[in-house]
Amino acid sequence: MRLTRRSFLATCASLPAVTAVAADAGLGALAARSGRYFGAAVSTALLTDGSAFVAPLERDCSVWVPEWQLKWGALTPAITAAADFTAMDGLVAAARTAGKRMRGHTLLWHEHLPDGIEALDGRGGWDSVVVPHIETVAGHYRDAFFEWDVVNEAIEPRDGGADLMRRTPFYRMLGPDYVAEAFRLAAEAAPSARLYLNEDHLYYDDEAQEARRVGLLALLERLVRAGVPVHGVGLQCHLDIRRRFDGRLFNRFLDEVTGLGLSVAVTELDVREHDDAAGRSLARRRQRAADEVTKVLDGLFDRSALAGVTTWGISDADSWLRKGGQGGDNQGLPYGDTFQPTPMRAALAALFTATRTRHD
Ligand code: G3I
Repeated sequence: MRLTRRSFLATCASLPAVTAVAADAGLGALAARSGRYFGAAVSTALLTDGSAFVAPLERDCSVWVPEWQLKWGALTPAITAAADFTAMDGLVAAARTAGKRMRGHTLLWHEHLPDGIEALDGRGGWDSVVVPHIETVAGHYRDAFFEWDVVNEAIEPRDGGADLMRRTPFYRMLGPDYVAEAFRLAAEAAPSARLYLNEDHLYYDDEAQEARRVGLLALLERLVRAGVPVHGVGLQCHLDIRRRFDGRLFNRFLDEVTGLGLSVAVTELDVREHDDAAGRSLARRRQRAADEVTKVLDGLFDRSALAGVTTWGISDADSWLRKGGQGGDNQGLPYGDTFQPTPMRAALAALFTATRTRHD
């Protein structure tokens, strides 16, 4: 087989993962060699003394992201109640003690909201409730987060709008300009943070994901043209082994995003594969997940715009893909449910090692 970059990556990723862990300095250290970061979503529950999560989170991550504790509905049960930062402050303190930077996730999202949001309407609801939320939370963590997902999942073509945007409670209050206003408020409250628009379902070759790419690019062009302080795009990258991937298509999309002068971060990487696991050994399933990561992320590592990669959890033992009735024994993260490093970890190590670009 001619040694190409892709074949080199595939070879590295097929090495026995346990060797890969012994041989490398940790994913965060490998990422730092090209000015990037590697991180994972965490929660306080994973960081208790004796937790098996601590070792891989310490060894491999230079960045931690709160999986749910910074969501508006986790900070306060209702818009009539003040935010309680106790748990989140504890997580920030733990990250600081462990020498980890933190990404803020997320200021505005249509899920995990406090009671009362749905009843708000117009500029009045926005000014009286949403503005104080953004100012209070982004201000409270002014120096704690180096990057923020300011708005999460703003695109939804199935909502039928010509702008392909999701009709969230915030859209209903202010129209499409809620995104720009949120970024301006976040920039005011946390002036040193890099501000991201975070989105999913953008990677694969199908009509629905093409519509999302079109909608997101149109929104980004409006924001950049208006001088809104948006610094990057978060690609959640909840990958799905069943979907068709066309590298040329995805790279054309990435060209348009980076052509706007924006950074890109992979913000919630995992691979959904248990729906297509029948008849396959665990080892084969884990290798397929690793190969999906290499296939989809390879083009990103050719771009200096790539700021870093965050996986949505570090071990399958706590993956959201195994919760909430989705069930299954999904094999889609850098460590399996017995905390053994998986081929996906080796694939990430190979991508960080082989990259010839830097993000500074
Ligand atoms: O609320 C309880 C809390 O009181 C309790 O102390 C804690 C004990 O573990 O559990 C909390 O429960 C749930 C929490 O996950 C922990 O499992 C919350 O009710 C539940 O809403 C929360 O779900 C999270 C969800 O976002 C909503 O915030 C998932 O863990 C998290 O994986 C998911 O992540 C989203 C991203 O933010 C955006 N992209 C999609 C991704 C997956 O849905």
